[in-house]
Amino acid sequence: MSGYIPGLEGVVAAQTRLSHVDGEAGELFIGGYPLMELAPNATFEEVAYLLWHDRLPTAAELAALRARFGSHQELPGAVVDLMTAAAARNTPVIDVVRMGAATLSLQDAEPLDESLERQMWRSEALCAAFPVLVAAYCRIRAGEPLVTPDAALGHAANYLHMLTGQDVDPDFARALETYFVTVLDHGMNASTFTARVIMSTNSDIYSAVTGAVGALKGPAHGGAPGPALDMVFEIGSPENAEANIRGRLERGERLMGFGHRVYKVRDPRADALALASERLYARAGDRSLYELARSVETTALRLLAEYKPGRRLQTNVEFYTALVLHGVGLPTELFTPTFAVGRVGGWTAHCIEQLRNNRLIRPASEYVGRVDRAWVPVEDRTD
Ligand SMILES: CC(C)(COP(=O)(O)OP(=O)(O)OC[C@H]1O[C@@H](n2cnc3c(N)ncnc32)[C@H](O)[C@@H]1OP(=O)(O)O)[C@@H](O)C(=O)NCCC(=O)NCCS
Repeated sequence: MSGYIPGLEGVVAAQTRLSHVDGEAGELFIGGYPLMELAPNATFEEVAYLLWHDRLPTAAELAALRARFGSHQELPGAVVDLMTAAAARNTPVIDVVRMGAATLSLQDAEPLDESLERQMWRSEALCAAFPVLVAAYCRIRAGEPLVTPDAALGHAANYLHMLTGQDVDPDFARALETYFVTVLDHGMNASTFTARVIMSTNSDIYSAVTGAVGALKGPAHGGAPGPALDMVFEIGSPENAEANIRGRLERGERLMGFGHRVYKVRDPRADALALASERLYARAGDRSLYELARSVETTALRLLAEYKPGRRLQTNVEFYTALVLHGVGLPTELFTPTFAVGRVGGWTAHCIEQLRNNRLIRPASEYVGRVDRAWVPVEDRTD
């Protein structure tokens, strides 16, 4: 009897204390805290520290972590050259993040040191560098001077500052922190699994994180929020939602921002980010995009139930991600790279967890090919 499980659905591939996804209850715990405790309150650095050390940092530890982040935020000249070459070809930002992640080993003076302390150093270096990679490339491509990082601002504000060169509105920084915290870790998602597989071969954390960026890029994983926002803009007003969404489903298209491999009820991250986006748009004094998105969501859920009965397709994290990231001023091309800026915290923590109790991840396959072939020399082959 075949043990093949397409997509490894439901297969338990690791034990983790980092995050717990309950797809039937619609719950997410990160480092033991319900998402709703962390999302409005915590910062990226606090939750990354929580995952690495299994407790929240004290104020002194947080300040020290920010200072260490600052020490990792200078880009080597070789990386700037790479970005300049990529900009000349208008390479997508997420591809530059993937290439940039691989270059970060250039700054590692002790590449053969496999101690836990060095893995922590690398984890911090990767987390600190990701926002710099995105912001520096955007500015190089736009022909603008690089903005000096200031890690003391906090991860989200520093990221927005490096992108825009402007002072950052604290409400924007808070909304982006909420986003980072919400997506920092999420069980055995495809990119995290990729990172753990690479780490399990006793490869290195730069390779693991580089592979994870590649896995994140696809629309089935981290590439959905841009198209989700495009759909909302295309619909334009609530009365167009029904015809537009029905048309998409009639054509067999998937609605971006809906459906999930694990969540069969509403993704709790959608709630955390819906709340953050409601605050953001209310504060800006124009709730129209938020109201439109709410109405598109309601229509989409009704039509998904009609066209895909029994599949239990609900709103996922990406739908309100689009609203939050648009609200803080990011263009759609930065949605997936910004997801990587948040998720790299989880990837590094999983890499360290994998190493603590490592066993090579090497599943089996079911052979469905032939076994009756005999070698034919090339000159005797007819087709
Ligand atoms: C996330 C996702 C890849 C999970 O997929 P999965 O667990 O492999 O689910 P399946 O591909 O088995 O889909 C089951 C059924 O629901 C349908 N379905 C799943 N998501 C759908 C969506 N967003 N819109 C329309 N139909 C969808 C599939 O077409 C399939 O229908 P069928 O049974 O008639 O063939 C999928 O829901 C999807 O593509 N969503 C849109 C992209 C997205 O938002 N990605 C971000 C995820 S956080």
